[in-house]
Amino acid sequence: MLDKIKHMLAEVEALQAATAEEAEALRVKYLSKKGDITALMNDFRSVPADMKKQVGIAINELKNRATERINELKASFATTDTDTDGIDITRTAYPIPLGTRHPLTIVRNEIIDIFSRLGFSLAEGPEVEDDWHVFSSMNFADDHPARDMQDTFFVESHPDIILRTHTSSVQARVMEHQQPPIRVICPGRVYRNEAISARAHCFFHQVEGLYIDRDVSFTDLKQVLLLFAKEMFGEDTRIRLRPSYFPFTEPSAEMDISCNICGGKGCGFCKHTGWVEILGCGMVDPNVLALNGIDPTQYKGYAFGMGVERITNLKYQVKDLRMFSENDLRFLQEFTAAN
Ligand code: DAH
Repeated sequence: MLDKIKHMLAEVEALQAATAEEAEALRVKYLSKKGDITALMNDFRSVPADMKKQVGIAINELKNRATERINELKASFATTDTDTDGIDITRTAYPIPLGTRHPLTIVRNEIIDIFSRLGFSLAEGPEVEDDWHVFSSMNFADDHPARDMQDTFFVESHPDIILRTHTSSVQARVMEHQQPPIRVICPGRVYRNEAISARAHCFFHQVEGLYIDRDVSFTDLKQVLLLFAKEMFGEDTRIRLRPSYFPFTEPSAEMDISCNICGGKGCGFCKHTGWVEILGCGMVDPNVLALNGIDPTQYKGYAFGMGVERITNLKYQVKDLRMFSENDLRFLQEFTAAN
């Protein structure tokens, strides 16, 4: 019997398996209830008493070695945690690398936030628009130069369908469905047929504002815009309104803020004037109200429109407009802290 055990021990030491299934088959062959080693243990009963100790030790050793060897073989086929489809699921999830918000998104959100606190709600409209919402409903004369091919992108087969050149089109979309009081801001992308350079792009972003109610005055407009300028650029910011012209407002104005880069003293950014223009505004032209189904004898309103890139440039001193759309991570990652 001792010989048999010795022989099996050598066999067990040399066990090999090519697959997990083969290793399992070895376990069954040696260690299961009907296995060879189990059979040896059953034979143990017939071992003479004076041999029992020696044989007992030998069988135990054989069983232990067989268990060890078969477990070793099995372990070599087991899928480990670090081996699941190439994904290391044991790796810590932290720190999670966060992306950064785009600077234009940061500034747009800030503009929305300021006006929301003043009771304005959000409205959006399509970027691919028709002539009516972009121009006609906004009181543009048929021969107004803004309709010119040079400014507007047309859909070739449908000259009536265009890419909106300003977010004022959303004013018309809102008035279509809502009677006053109306108090909305409309952020969005606009398109103009311009050569791309550091100072101009064929698309950019605007935020439009519209307020219509019974007794709305130019003073209301001025106060709201002053508050906006202070919230956006700091308490010391001053504003100035210069008379201007837009087809959809009368009277119209352009608003400058005291240059927040030099504090109004004069620098390269403000061309040494101490002022920078940030938006257009005015009292909604009664024609616009009438064209959009609102009674101009009952209601008045103000509107304004600002360029998000311009405000972002002022806040973060971005010198080249193209930076906003080139997705250069070195530029975008500068805004991590501003999220
Ligand atoms: N739509 C004008 C533009 O694109 C901006 C603007 C000016 C909007 C005056 C307004 C406004 O609502 O009242 O240049």
